[in-house]
Amino acid sequence: MSILIRNGHVLDPSSDVDGRFDVLVDGGRIIKIAPAGKAGDKADSVVDATGMHVFPGLVDLHAHLREPGFTHKETIKTGTEAAVRGGFTSVCAMPNTSPINDNPGITDYMLQKARAEGVCDVYPIGAITKEQKGEELAPLGLMSEEGCVAFSDDGRPVVNPLIMRRALEYAKAFGFPLISHCEDLSLADGGVINEGLRSFTMGLKGIPNASEDIMVHRDVSLAELSGGRIHIAHISTEGSVRIIRQAKERGVNVTAETCPHYFTLTEEAAEGFNTAAKVNPPLRTGVDVEAIRQGIKDGTIDVIATDHAPHHRNEKMREFDAAPPGISGLETAFALSLALVRDGVISLDRLVAMMTSVPAGIVGIGKGSLKEGGAPDMVIVDLEEEFVVEPEKFASKGKNTPFAGYRLKGRPVATVAGGRLFKWK
Ligand code: DOR
Repeated sequence: MSILIRNGHVLDPSSDVDGRFDVLVDGGRIIKIAPAGKAGDKADSVVDATGMHVFPGLVDLHAHLREPGFTHKETIKTGTEAAVRGGFTSVCAMPNTSPINDNPGITDYMLQKARAEGVCDVYPIGAITKEQKGEELAPLGLMSEEGCVAFSDDGRPVVNPLIMRRALEYAKAFGFPLISHCEDLSLADGGVINEGLRSFTMGLKGIPNASEDIMVHRDVSLAELSGGRIHIAHISTEGSVRIIRQAKERGVNVTAETCPHYFTLTEEAAEGFNTAAKVNPPLRTGVDVEAIRQGIKDGTIDVIATDHAPHHRNEKMREFDAAPPGISGLETAFALSLALVRDGVISLDRLVAMMTSVPAGIVGIGKGSLKEGGAPDMVIVDLEEEFVVEPEKFASKGKNTPFAGYRLKGRPVATVAGGRLFKWK
């Protein structure tokens, strides 16, 4: 099926395309990117993108698709549908499924499911250790051959530094990155919210910033020791930004991501025991939010990822202590991130890079750019369209968002994923 996207403002920071173009897709690839009006007018579907932007399909380095095992929360089908709604066409899927993706059989299962039922590309991230127990390395080489693009015990830290060191040595030999969930479990001590006055007044156990900072420090040191490549997941603290900034200055092989909730919300969002705002790491203070924004501005933070963590309504309806942490993020990430451009933190060009070519480059998936002959993955966005976040209308099974009722600006109106057109208006 051929698709013509006409007269949009095409912006692809990775290939320096920035202007009004037509994009023609046919036969599973982009066959033409021509000045507006010059790509003809014959196609099975024509999308008039006048007044809109066309970006490479967004790439999410960090999502939980929950399949196998937790299909009451999400499936590969619903998770990729949510992705496409949010403008994402490539999704890296974390391994904390059931069974855990710690062997090539599960990786293969996920890829087969994605091919059969997914509506965009899924790139499995394998577990670093068997059953994510932190005791014994998973067969990283075999899983990498099967299709894992990175390894992480996300949801849990790799507690033992020697295991992490060995994993980084493998990572170096095989050329893939490790993605680290930085949390010192003894310091976190079962906490459920940021440690501070609010945790005290709410009578909840707090998680101090140091629980994250210490592990960021450790992993940066281990990357330095081993020469392996480390990507720090979902950073939330001022200390993490500072440690990563200094490590980058020393030339350490480290990259970092944060998520929209860490530069948009503070711990205040959990007031009233709002479990939709329970997430790990927890929402922090205004000082942390400012530091995260500064880290995005000066390039310390490379990537904006969603940490899409859908949970079932009944699970989130439990008392704050017992509710699982996580935010369903795929369908709000772009608009929340676009606010960084309006606030003057970064340029639109940089934002698009942080959500396309940069994450794609970290996991080496050759996506996140628009070029003739390349993958037919793109998103058409109306940067001016305002909308109210209505979780009930999410394609994701996970309705758990602290942004319900927020009026946001900047909405994907259509996505082309793998040469298929998805359109809502
Ligand atoms: O809030 C979170 N939810 N943080 C994690 O690290 C894991 C995730 C999940 O799997 O629900």
